[in-house]
Formats: sequence, structure tokens, C-alpha cells
Amino acid sequence: MTGTALRVDVVSIFPEYFAPLELSLIGRARAAGVLDLVVHDLRTWTHDVHRTVDDTPYGGGPGMVMRPEPWGAALAALAPADAPPPRLVVPSPAGTRFSQALAYELAAEPRLVFACGRYEGIDERVLADAALRMPVTEVSLGDYVLFGGEVAVIVIMEAVTRLLPGVLGNADSLAEESHAHGLLEAPVYTKPPSWRGHDVPEILRSGDHGRIARWRRDQALLRTAARRPDLIAALPPGALDKRDLATLDGAGFQVPAAGMAK
Ligand code: ADE
Repeated sequence: MTGTALRVDVVSIFPEYFAPLELSLIGRARAAGVLDLVVHDLRTWTHDVHRTVDDTPYGGGPGMVMRPEPWGAALAALAPADAPPPRLVVPSPAGTRFSQALAYELAAEPRLVFACGRYEGIDERVLADAALRMPVTEVSLGDYVLFGGEVAVIVIMEAVTRLLPGVLGNADSLAEESHAHGLLEAPVYTKPPSWRGHDVPEILRSGDHGRIARWRRDQALLRTAARRPDLIAALPPGALDKRDLATLDGAGFQVPAAGMAK
């Protein structure tokens, strides 16, 4: 294990959910020592014969709520008072929306602990108490409700792991991919040059790297304007130069003032 590995502890009542994290590039990152990921069963920290983790909600209502005691014991074990605190990440539909920017933030941390809620969620006092000792971030994948946080952790860890140093062979692919510059990526093609009557755009076969780069930038701009106008509106000031504006204008897209070069 290298000294720079990201250490991740995941607490869940379904540790088996995380089997996919043994596979493919995440599995390789773990084998290479870039990612040190340990999954824990929350029931390890129960003391009754039924290994109870949930109870009925105060105030009534449907479903069950996760009791605070097992979570308190789990976090005490995984974030001991005599060590630098990890960042606690709690997947929840009520969290802030997960994004590439947050993936970069999490990839830069030395230690993460994920707390996977199930049922109607975790007793609110667990997060309030944890926040006294460590940074707590509730993260939502999107505006829909999952059974629990497990799948969200797999999604978040896939996005984070590919940003860890040495995981992707080609660092350029990080720089060019969708969302890296606040734009969607241009379409990609491989062989054969013609397939079912659809041809690869001639310019990509021209060998003219300057024109190819411009074409990709234009495609990224046009795709983003058509599919995700919210991303164009959110570009930082000066993100679009005169050529970019001409590309968008030529295709009939109105460019909000924010992204325009001065
Ligand atoms: N748990 C339940 N729903 C979720 C969501 N949308 N995102 C993250 N975690 C969740």
C-alpha cells in the first residue's frame, strides 16, 4: 500500500452490494494500492440478539428509521478521536447534487467514510453528532429515490476512483471528457470509416490536428447548447471566446452574457 492511497470505509447493512467494486478498473486500483477500500457491516456494531438497526419513526408515518446507536459506535470506530477526522459522506435524496466538481473534491481527500442509509433514513442526530467531529456531506445522485445509499456509493466511488493519480493510463482523457470544462464531450468514432451508410466525419480522418481540435470544440459547444443549456448558462465569465460565440450564434443559440469573453 502506498502512502498516498485514498482510504475509504463504507458502512452498510448489505456489504454484499459492493462486490462490483472488486471488478475492472476499481478492482485494479485497489490491487495497485491506489485505493484502500473496506466495507463494514453496520450490524457489527449492534449488541442485541436480533442485531437490530431500525425502529419506528417518532411522530408516526410509514417505514422505519435507522437507530442512532449502531451508527454512533460505527463512526467512533472508524473515526477515532486520536486520528485526523475523515470526511463523512452520506448518500441521501436530500443531499447536494453529486457532480464532477464534487468527485474531484472527494478524490483529493485522504480519508472518506460512507454511511449507507436504508428505509426512511438515518436518525438525524447521527449526522448532527458526527458533524461535531468531522465534515459531513450529504450527497444526492439526482431527484429520484433509491432503496438506500449503496448504489449511490458505487456511483460516487466509480467517479472518484478514475480521478485518483495513476488509475487512468492516459491523463489526457480526463482533460477532454464530458464535464471537464463544463461542456459535454464531442461525439467519438472508430473504425470502420463507413458503417451502415453512416460515415465518420471527414475532418476526423484529415490528420489536421488544428482543425480537428476546433471541430471537437464546436461539437462540444453545439451539443451542450442543444442538450444541456443549463451548462452553457453556468459557464464562468470568459469561458467562451469569439470563435465559440460565432459557432453558437451561427447555429441559432442565444448565449447568456455570463459565459462571454469580455
Ligand atoms: N438514497 C436514496 N435516494 C438517493 C439518491 N437519489 N441519491 C443518493 N442517495 C440516495
